[in-house]
Amino acid sequence: MHKIKLLLVAVISISTLHAQKSMKPSYLDNNQPIEKRVEDALSRMTFDEKVAMCHAQSKFSSPGVPRLGIPQIMMSDGPHGVREEIEWNTWNAAKWTNDSCTAFPALTCLAATFNPKLAYEYGVAVGEEARYRQKDILLGPGVNIYRTPLNGRNFEYMGEDPLLASKMAVPYIHGVQTNGVATCVKHFALNNQEMWRGHIDVQLSDRALYEIYLPAFKAAIEEGKAWSIMGAYNKFRGQHCCHNDLLLNKILKGDWKFDGVVVTDWGGAHDTKEAALNGLDIEMGSYTNGLTSESKFTYNDYYLANPFKKLLKTGEVPMSVLDDKARRILRLIFRTQMMNNRPYGRFVCDEHSNTALNVAQEGIVLLKNQNNFLPVTAGKYKKIAVIGENASRSLTEGGGSSTLKVKYEVSPLAGLKATYGAENIRYAKGYSSGPSVYGRIIEPKENQQKLFDEAVKVAAESDIVFFVGGLNKNHEQDCEAGDRTSMSLPFNQDKLITEILKVNKNVVLVLISGNAVSMPWLKEVPAVLQAWYIGSESGNAISNVVSGRVNPSGKLPFTFGQKLTDYGAHAFGEISYPGDSIKQEYKEDILVGYRWFDTKKIKPLFPFGFGLSYSTFEYGKISADKKTYASTDEIKVSFTLKNTGSVAGAEAVQLYATQEKAPVLRPAKELKAFSKVFLNAGETTTIELSIKAADLAYYDDKTQTWKLDKGNFVLHNAASAGDIKSSVKIQIK
Ligand code: BGC
Repeated sequence: MHKIKLLLVAVISISTLHAQKSMKPSYLDNNQPIEKRVEDALSRMTFDEKVAMCHAQSKFSSPGVPRLGIPQIMMSDGPHGVREEIEWNTWNAAKWTNDSCTAFPALTCLAATFNPKLAYEYGVAVGEEARYRQKDILLGPGVNIYRTPLNGRNFEYMGEDPLLASKMAVPYIHGVQTNGVATCVKHFALNNQEMWRGHIDVQLSDRALYEIYLPAFKAAIEEGKAWSIMGAYNKFRGQHCCHNDLLLNKILKGDWKFDGVVVTDWGGAHDTKEAALNGLDIEMGSYTNGLTSESKFTYNDYYLANPFKKLLKTGEVPMSVLDDKARRILRLIFRTQMMNNRPYGRFVCDEHSNTALNVAQEGIVLLKNQNNFLPVTAGKYKKIAVIGENASRSLTEGGGSSTLKVKYEVSPLAGLKATYGAENIRYAKGYSSGPSVYGRIIEPKENQQKLFDEAVKVAAESDIVFFVGGLNKNHEQDCEAGDRTSMSLPFNQDKLITEILKVNKNVVLVLISGNAVSMPWLKEVPAVLQAWYIGSESGNAISNVVSGRVNPSGKLPFTFGQKLTDYGAHAFGEISYPGDSIKQEYKEDILVGYRWFDTKKIKPLFPFGFGLSYSTFEYGKISADKKTYASTDEIKVSFTLKNTGSVAGAEAVQLYATQEKAPVLRPAKELKAFSKVFLNAGETTTIELSIKAADLAYYDDKTQTWKLDKGNFVLHNAASAGDIKSSVKIQIK
């Protein structure tokens, strides 16, 4: 009897527990499908709560639903590290002591690795840092196409080729989002210069839009499944990109079926009705000057706040528009903070340093190495000069919104000292550039002539010179909110390098930049390295490469032209770049980067996809698995690759395609596939690459569809856009 009673009690308590459990609202139940949770949460929200979600509540956050326990969304720049905390309502540093991050290499360097696996590791690591710092959206990656070497933000992007940018962005996004942190792909779209970025109205053909400027965004959404996207500052065909009907409603949310959140760039909204109706979901950063939540002009005065309410109440904007925005924002919250088993992230750890180092080492590009001047092994020289401000300057600071406060940054000078012995090294700055300040230039205080003379003297008294120069993150260099004013090296470096070469021929030039620079001294310099902005591990990565501990394998993600007017964007006068201050026309159309150089037969300084190694690679002849393909077929090509050098190395092999006798203009060739292959000395492998026949199509403006012509195409295996190894003809029937 007693036993039966106990059993009854147990049964009753279990069923009460079940009842309690099932009373939990669906939106709080991790085991429910996201869409059910979204609908449940939405049904409980008031009008005011829904509107509140659509705009900022601080510089980097937007509200959740406090009454329902739905958390606010915390955002952070991106894209190559998690930015320091700033004050709630101002751009001032919050001066926290726990927010010094790992600086990963900027995205040009990631693109230069040509290694999507590394992009995934990078994404996981930077996502872990964001997660640890309690961020829900990391503002990146940036996938705007490299159109002109003057663009101040090229260093944040992935180069000039849509396929390369797509293939590198997708795994980055997957990596970040495994942490329950949303990526925010930016800047959608056509923010390809900083000059007049707030209002310049970009005009271009549909063909250029679909073939060149949209593919990386499309891949980020459709394959990467990015949970948010950031509108660009500029206009496109008359409408600001942050509330652009064609870009956001038709293409992004219509054609690509994007179910995430469109965030403005900071201050990118300009009109309530357009913002409401043309696809914007969260407005950030409007009226950034002096705004506080207590001031006369508050967050409630944002376009998507009180003015939005007004339009909803008068019926000018239907309530379904508000519900759609709220749904998207809720979905993002359930995908991030309220997801099942959200990981906890980690911050500044050996694993992240290793990832940063690996990306840096694989991304550094060896541009020139006359008579195997490099590597310079430790012990070879006793009198070593290191010259150039970038050898000792912090290059993680500055540049605009991607500026980082880092836990540590190994400078190139420190790395070279550790490798070659501090006692063997003399450092001379050679020039100085002043501090990195947003939006203006502060002249340096040092006597430049003195720095110059000292450097030439040190060079003359040394056996070898490592010149570590390039651009930096100052205004009008590689920096947001302004473009460069020329392709030349700034701060008198060309002259300094020329003078150094007169007294010492053994110069290794290490260029730190996210952009191409002209190189009037190139013929005289035996070795040149493009070393990007590579973050915390800079000095280690650079010294590992120059000393031969690491065999370089990076390849250029954009063309280095000889001069500015060699670029398509600069071949049509000011209306093409920078525009007439109101609008601009991309007159070079689809011929961006190597597409322009190759088609117009302009010899670049260094072609797209170019990079040397301490090994040599022998490419076998390319063959295709068939002669004729249907438009729905897959095309498989193969060839052998042999490491004919004496050290292990890696090669990014590239597959380009050319259409013969095309009825429309087609570029001389276009990248269709690539692969990074690691081979020991003497090792041979067979490389197989496959593409879809449909990948050979072009966008037809007239029919507004992709069109694949019947006829002949030629596929080339190549070491760069300037180095085709062999070709095979195929036919599309
Ligand atoms: C930049 C964005 C950045 C945002 C927030 C803007 O000025 O264009 O890329 O994410 O500021 O800092």
